[in-house]
Amino acid sequence: MLLDNLKTLLLLPAAIRGIVAASTAASSSTACNNSPSLCNIAYNDISYLGAHDSPFVRDAATSYSISGNQYYNSTVQLSAGVRLLTAQVQRATNNALHVCHSSCDLLDAGTLSSWLSEVRTWIDANPNDVVTILIVNGAAATVTELERQYQKAGIDSTLAYTPNSNHAAQQAWPTLQTLIDSGTRLVNFVDYITPDPAVPWIMEEFRYIFENNYDVSTLDGFSCAANRPATAVNNLSKALANGVMPLMNHFVYTDAGLGIQSPNAANASYTNSRASLGSAATTCTQEYGRAPAFILVDFFNVGPAIATVDRLNNVTNPVGRKRVSTASMTQDSAATKATRKWTLGFCCLAVLLVCGVS
Ligand SMILES: *[C@@H]1O[C@H](CO)[C@@H](O)[C@H](O)[C@H]1NC(C)=O
Ligand SMILES: *[C@@H]1O[C@H](CO)[C@@H](O)[C@H](O)[C@H]1NC(C)=O
Ligand SMILES: *[C@@H]1O[C@H](CO)[C@@H](O)[C@H](O)[C@H]1NC(C)=O
Ligand SMILES: *[C@@H]1O[C@H](CO)[C@@H](O)[C@H](O)[C@H]1NC(C)=O
Repeated sequence: MLLDNLKTLLLLPAAIRGIVAASTAASSSTACNNSPSLCNIAYNDISYLGAHDSPFVRDAATSYSISGNQYYNSTVQLSAGVRLLTAQVQRATNNALHVCHSSCDLLDAGTLSSWLSEVRTWIDANPNDVVTILIVNGAAATVTELERQYQKAGIDSTLAYTPNSNHAAQQAWPTLQTLIDSGTRLVNFVDYITPDPAVPWIMEEFRYIFENNYDVSTLDGFSCAANRPATAVNNLSKALANGVMPLMNHFVYTDAGLGIQSPNAANASYTNSRASLGSAATTCTQEYGRAPAFILVDFFNVGPAIATVDRLNNVTNPVGRKRVSTASMTQDSAATKATRKWTLGFCCLAVLLVCGVS
């Protein structure tokens, strides 16, 4: 009797372990954007977490710039599950296209091509993922100028997705698996641009996407109403026509004085919480009759922003994401870390000294 029980105990777990191991291996090898359940869903029927102003990082390298919208760079954002990156493009003093926040005097994160290279490096290393870039064209750059920056980063139509030829909103987008199989895993939009038939993969945002208001400066100031393009203001049936995808902005500005608006970091854990982001997503899903395709946040790691997107996508067991701290990153927190290291070092030294003496 005892022996039988022992046998059962020893044998059963092994069998279960085998099954679990097999299913884990199968699912992780077929996950698309962190989940096997998303592979066969059309691109436009999925919700993507977006890092607003992705290259503008508030860390030691920028002296914790109050213009920074994120605490971690685009590489870390993508590895943590972000799949939409937005960036403002402005002209630096030499007229070159840089990613800058409002003005290159305020926060200059380098050339557009070097940021695109960073994104391409990540995409190359992650062959089962589809990423979207949305450029805010503060420089009024032409398609040709932007294409040159993409080319410098090694990106052309072999990696970029090319839509149907008439530059119109399209009802039928490929599934993630189709995009992955054809290698076209980067989808590119620019907010204001005159499309160029020679470079169809640089898409004019508002033919495919509408947005709610992005200029919100109170914690409860969000609305699902269509705000851009101008032709669809406050008219959801018009905004949603022809399969146009909703982009839900959900971040707050704070007045930094001198007329400068800066991202509200102090309230990020509230803004990205289930109570704020989660309930806005639910409300907008009801109003739109579909989930927002893109949800754009500041400080993506603070608060459970990605949990809201997983819920909309019915994803319960995401795979392959790298965890990132959920804390805010400030000069104070960096200083605390340094103090902690120093304290630890001091304690070790003290222990060594005491042990050596005794
Ligand atoms: C992004 O940040 C991580 C750590 O925060 C760092 O290790 C990595 O080098 C950075 N990558 C780029 C391309 O700057
Ligand atoms: C909204 O747009 C639709 C379709 O273009 C139009 O028929 C309708 O009159 C508009 N509604 C309002 C309130 O403007
Ligand atoms: C927003 O931040 C301010 C300043 O830190 C704080 O006093 C307030 O309680 C916060 N509100 C919420 C809802 O998190
Ligand atoms: C998630 O489930 C809802 C409700 O059944 C459905 O409408 C939606 O299309 C699903 N989303 C995805 C990405 O599977």
